[in-house]
Amino acid sequence: MRSILVTGAAGFIGSNFVRMLMSRGEDVKLVVLDKLTYAGNIANIQDLIDDEKLFFVKGDICDAALVEQLWTNHAINQVVHFAAESHVDRSILSSGPFVQTNVVGTQVLLDVAKAKGVDRFVHVSTDEVYGSLPEDKPDVKFTEETSLAPNSPYSASKAGSDCLARSYFHTHHLPVMITRCSNNYGPYQFPEKALPLFITNLMEGKKIPLYGDGMNIRDWLYVEDHCDAIWTVLNKGTPGEVYNIGGNNEMTNRKIVETILREMGKTWDDGVQYVKDRPGHDRRYAIDASKIKRELGWEPKHRWEQAIKTTIQWFKDHQDWWRAIKSGEYLKYYDQQYTQR
Ligand code: NAD
Ligand code: DAU
Repeated sequence: MRSILVTGAAGFIGSNFVRMLMSRGEDVKLVVLDKLTYAGNIANIQDLIDDEKLFFVKGDICDAALVEQLWTNHAINQVVHFAAESHVDRSILSSGPFVQTNVVGTQVLLDVAKAKGVDRFVHVSTDEVYGSLPEDKPDVKFTEETSLAPNSPYSASKAGSDCLARSYFHTHHLPVMITRCSNNYGPYQFPEKALPLFITNLMEGKKIPLYGDGMNIRDWLYVEDHCDAIWTVLNKGTPGEVYNIGGNNEMTNRKIVETILREMGKTWDDGVQYVKDRPGHDRRYAIDASKIKRELGWEPKHRWEQAIKTTIQWFKDHQDWWRAIKSGEYLKYYDQQYTQR
């Protein structure tokens, strides 16, 4: 049986990843290391914790002694590295935690993997490392060869971690693979990110805060498809390679908002408030995911039209989950982000 260290699996994508592997009955032992920051939530994996295949450890990826101990105690032979500070707006308010976790934390994991040995190491990264695309050239998309041009402290810290991961392959022959995915949506997404924020605000009788002119474009992918792509890369990918992952599903934020309003029976005037734009707001992201399809046979299985309905229904059915989050520290952040700016 493989022993896989999964970092950050109490967060959005990591929790969906371990849930997917457990429900598929994969022959794996999953060692989950998560600091339980404001974005980490033990409730995301609580129902899986008693399973003998899953070991949860609360701790920091920057703690080299702890990471070494996990390797020794659990005979780790593979790594899927999700743990990160992941929200662009928070990186604009304060970038220190982003450099610490995303850069230093990744370096610690790579160093321990080098010292202790590893068969495969998937570094989960983002399309935001490529910067922003022009709106007037719809055929231009990010490929794995696109130069890195990060524009926010978040994406800069992720680009730093990507470069470290790449260097450990070239210099130390560590079997690292890097994935760069577009925007995810689905169950367990923290309600500071656009889609769950918009959906839950409407349920609370509040408005959707739409940045700028609402015409920024993202390529939306259902989280289960991202998890399946990461599993595919872990099993079939070639060390040293980068794999873009995307939904071929570009939409403006206005289009997203129109869909959510329609599904939730609200009008634009009742449900939307334009607010001050995000500083340095990237205009357009679009992923060319032809390499992972051609070389590893992966492509998305979920369509936006159905998956957004499933996502809205999940938030309707899990109000205790998100109402508990939207209190305390969250409300202070919300006030700072949306009222005081
Ligand atoms: P998230 O913010 O929901 O979860 C991050 C998790 O990492 C949390 O559980 C948190 O407690 C944990 N964590 C943070 N710092 C840690 C530390 N120092 N030590 C241990 N654990 C720590 O993030 P997410 O949206 O699930 O993203 C997961 C990964 O996927 C990130 O690396 C992100 O850059 C990448 N990614 C996200 C998206 C997206 O749309 N959400 C798209 C592409 C790539
Ligand atoms: O592209 C992948 C990235 O997608 C990941 O690497 C990040 O971790 C993830 O957070 C996400 O980054 P974005 O900045 O694209 O996602 P966010 O949900 O913050 O915003 C999506 C779009 O919605 C973006 O154009 C900004 C806009 N937006 C966002 C918020 C929070 C608003 O208009 N209003 C808002 O209140």
